[in-house]
Amino acid sequence: MKVVVIGTGYVGLTTGVALAYLGNQVTCLDIDPGKITKLKQNQVPIYEPGLPELLEISRANLRFTTSYDEAGIDSSDVVFIAVGTPSLPDGNADLTYVKTAADALGPRLDHHFTVVVNKSTVPIGSGNWVGTLLREAYARSKGSQPDGNYAVASNPEFLRQGSALFDTLYPDRVVIGSEDTRAIDTLTNLYRPILNQDFPPPAFLPRPDGLSAVSVVTCDLASAELIKYAANSFLALKISYMNEIAHLTEKVGADITQVARGIGLDSRIGPRFLQAGIGWGGSCFGKDTAALVAISKEYGMSMPIVQAARDVNYHQRTWVVDTLLHELKILKGKTVALLGFAFKPNTDDLRDAPSLDIARQLIQRGARVRATDPVALGNARQLYPDLGVIYCDQPLDALRKADAVVLVTEWSEYTRLNWGEIKLTLNNPLILDGRNFLDRHELERLGYRYIGVGR
Ligand SMILES: NC(=O)c1ccc[n+]([C@@H]2O[C@H](COP(=O)([O-])OP(=O)(O)OC[C@H]3O[C@@H](n4cnc5c(N)ncnc54)[C@H](O)[C@@H]3O)[C@@H](O)[C@H]2O)c1
Repeated sequence: MKVVVIGTGYVGLTTGVALAYLGNQVTCLDIDPGKITKLKQNQVPIYEPGLPELLEISRANLRFTTSYDEAGIDSSDVVFIAVGTPSLPDGNADLTYVKTAADALGPRLDHHFTVVVNKSTVPIGSGNWVGTLLREAYARSKGSQPDGNYAVASNPEFLRQGSALFDTLYPDRVVIGSEDTRAIDTLTNLYRPILNQDFPPPAFLPRPDGLSAVSVVTCDLASAELIKYAANSFLALKISYMNEIAHLTEKVGADITQVARGIGLDSRIGPRFLQAGIGWGGSCFGKDTAALVAISKEYGMSMPIVQAARDVNYHQRTWVVDTLLHELKILKGKTVALLGFAFKPNTDDLRDAPSLDIARQLIQRGARVRATDPVALGNARQLYPDLGVIYCDQPLDALRKADAVVLVTEWSEYTRLNWGEIKLTLNNPLILDGRNFLDRHELERLGYRYIGVGR
C-alpha cells in the first residue's frame, strides 16, 4: 500500500520503517528539517535499537520529506498522524500538532480513498474532531465539500521505547477503531503480515518462539481511543501499587522483590510491571494518566485510582531526596552521582524522566549533582543546559568523590562496573539503588551501605 506517516518521532519513524520493511511504499513527513535531513542521509535522529539497521534494509521503500505537497497524500491509501500530544498545564493533551497536521491533510485528500489514522494518543472524541477538521480544511481550500472519499480511524500505539521495533513487528494485539468498515478493512489488510506473522523476520530481530498470529481488536473510534488510555493507566497503577506496598515492606522488614515474585507468579496478576523503584516517567504514562483524569472531569467524574497512581509515582522522586537527606544529614555541599539520566534504559528520551526532578530537588537543597548516561547526555546537554547538573560521559567521572550514588536508570552496563575499585574513589560508599537492580549482597560485601526500594 501507499502509506504516509506524519511525524518521525519514536512512534512515527518506527511505524514507517516497519511498514516499509513489510513491503509498503512509505513516505515519512516531519516539519523538523533537521530530522528529515538526517534521515535522508540514512541517519536515525533518535536512539532506538535496531532502527538504523531496519531503515537500511528497507531504504528502497522509504521516502522522507518536510513537504505536505510532495508527500503524495492524494494518492495514498493510509495516512498515519503520529505527532506529539504533550500535556497542557491542566493535564489535557495538547492537540496543536494534531490540528496542524489535519489542517494540512484536509485539502490534499482527493478522489482516491484514504484512511486518516490517529496513531498519536488522543483524547476520546478526537477521531470525530479530526474528521471535522479535515472536512473544514478541504472546504476552506477548495470552496466545496469533500466528496467523502476518506475515513478516519484510530489505531493506538503500544510500543515501548527501547524495544519499539520488536513491539511493532510482534505486538500483543492491534487495535483498529472506526465507524467506517472500509477503513477497518484497509487497516486490517495493511497489518495482515503482522496479524498472520507470515513475513520473514529481520535477521537481528527473530520472531518470538510460538508466535503464529496476533489478535486484532476492531471497534468503534471512542473505544479504541479509550483502550490506549486505559491500558497505559493500568500499567502505571500496577507500578505505583508496588511502590505503595514497598513503603510497607520497608516498615515491616519484608522484601518487595520477594513479594513481587510471590504475587507475580499468580497467573491472574502476572509478573510484569511489578518492579518497585523510583517510579515511571517517559513520554506516555505521566501525560496519559493526566489526560484520563482531565477527561473524566469533563464528564463530571473523578478517577481516584488513576490520580492515586500519579500521586504515589511522583512522591517516589521526593522519597529519593528525603532518603538521601536522612542518610547524609546535610545535603549542602555534598556531591550526589546519578547513574542513568534517561527515563528508562535503551532510550535517549528525557521526557518526564525522574532524574530531572531528583536533580532539581537536590540542587535546590544545595547539593552538587553529577550525572552520567550511556546515550541520553546529548539530549540532556541540549535540552537542560541550565539545570545545574554536571554531565559526565564516563561513569567514573560522575562517581569520583561522590557522597552518595543514586542508580536512576537500570542500564545493564552499571552492573558491570568495578564496584570494588569505585569504592576507593568515593567520599562515602552509599548507594541508593532506585531500581533494585544492582547486586545488593556483593555491594554490602564490598562495604557499601546499600539502600534499595522496599527491601
Ligand atoms: N513514545 C512512545 O513510547 C509512545 C508510545 C505509544 C504512543 N505514543 C504516542 O505517539 C505520539 C507520538 O509520540 P512520539 O514519542 O513519537 O513523539 P515525538 O515527539 O518523538 O515525535 C513527534 C514528531 O512529530 C513531528 N511533528 C509535529 N507536528 C508535526 C506536523 N504538523 N507535521 C509533521 N510532523 C510534525 C515532530 O517534529 C516530531 O518529530 C504521541 O501522541 C504519544 O503519546 C508514544
